[in-house]
Amino acid sequence: PSLTEVLNLHDFEYVAKQVMPEKAWAYYSSAADDEITIRENHAAFHRIWFRPRILRDVTEVDYSTKILGHASSMPIYITATALGKLGHPDGELNLTRAAAKHGVIQMIPTLASCSFDEIVDNAQPGQVQFLQLYVNKDRAVTKRIVQHAESRGIKGLFITVDAPQLGRREKDMRQKFEAEDPSEVTKAGSDGVDRTQGAARAISSFIDPGLSWKDVAWFKSITKMPLILKGVQCWEDVLMAYDHGLAGCVLSNHGGRQLDFARSGIEILAESVTHLKEKRGLTFPNEKFQLFVDGGVRRATDVLKAVALGATAVGIGRPFLYAFSSYGVDGVNHALTILKAEFEMNLRLLGAPTIKDVVPEMVDASNLSSH
Ligand code: FNR
Repeated sequence: PSLTEVLNLHDFEYVAKQVMPEKAWAYYSSAADDEITIRENHAAFHRIWFRPRILRDVTEVDYSTKILGHASSMPIYITATALGKLGHPDGELNLTRAAAKHGVIQMIPTLASCSFDEIVDNAQPGQVQFLQLYVNKDRAVTKRIVQHAESRGIKGLFITVDAPQLGRREKDMRQKFEAEDPSEVTKAGSDGVDRTQGAARAISSFIDPGLSWKDVAWFKSITKMPLILKGVQCWEDVLMAYDHGLAGCVLSNHGGRQLDFARSGIEILAESVTHLKEKRGLTFPNEKFQLFVDGGVRRATDVLKAVALGATAVGIGRPFLYAFSSYGVDGVNHALTILKAEFEMNLRLLGAPTIKDVVPEMVDASNLSSH
């Protein structure tokens, strides 16, 4: 189908499934075990309803915001997804270029297919990028990555904490991971790599399962970048992150790719906001300690629900992968254009002229867990 026929972010998945090589589709679309959590990620948004306000002047609406103090045209960012070249020869650069054009922030994955420097070199002057970090068993390697990132102007370090071992993604495991030159697909972990059980297994053997709260002090000693934990899954750990002086948390289950039956990020957001208010007197959105959500976000309405509940912004993963796998950078640009149109319309319909006007009273979240 031509891009003009693509009307929403779901459509990219439908197109990608038809046009992508089977191995790439298996790696991008797969999730853990019985794939219950990936389904729940999107379904959880269906339990939240809007309470729009009327008769507010919505002639002009403004959906721009700030993420960790940096301007973003919308309350979303492009989250880290590994192995961009499986879907398109330009890999992650498709995301870098579209992010520049649309004024959104890209989180660069540790396991990008393009090299880190290539991705940074392709950014426009002043373009803000974050780095997602998988912590290597060899801390000297991690230190080098982190300090290099800071020297290249990366504005936030998102440490992935939900993957001490990679989840079991059977769709992907049924494929053999045979990159012609593995170093072209990823620079990491090319020694001692097991290529018989899919892409995920092949690239993840270096990740340190020994990572613990004690390491936070070490991270603070090696970098001044804001530190955010990615993959926090209950309010108790959000509280610990706050108490350890981190800059925020991404409430996420890794797109359903890790622990099956993990809850959705939006569910964790609701309970975290409640407990941080009760126990630490924090209100959200909060500039000093920012909460993010990812997983199953496909519409601006999903994003606005998270914003209403206190999220600073929301990460979107697969739709952009499917967009560039099917249409290259034009696909990602189209996806971001679609989201902007959705934000404009839905802010009007909510009676919220700006993102700040999207307040908790605008949603009925009583069907989310409050434990
Ligand atoms: C991911 N994700 C991920 N996260 C991370 O911290 N490091 C990584 O290398 C990857 N790689 C990756 C590859 C692919 C193919 C996918 C789909 C996802 C997880 C990602 O950052 C995010 O948590 C989810 O993708 C969000 O869910 P949606 O938007 O894909 O539904």
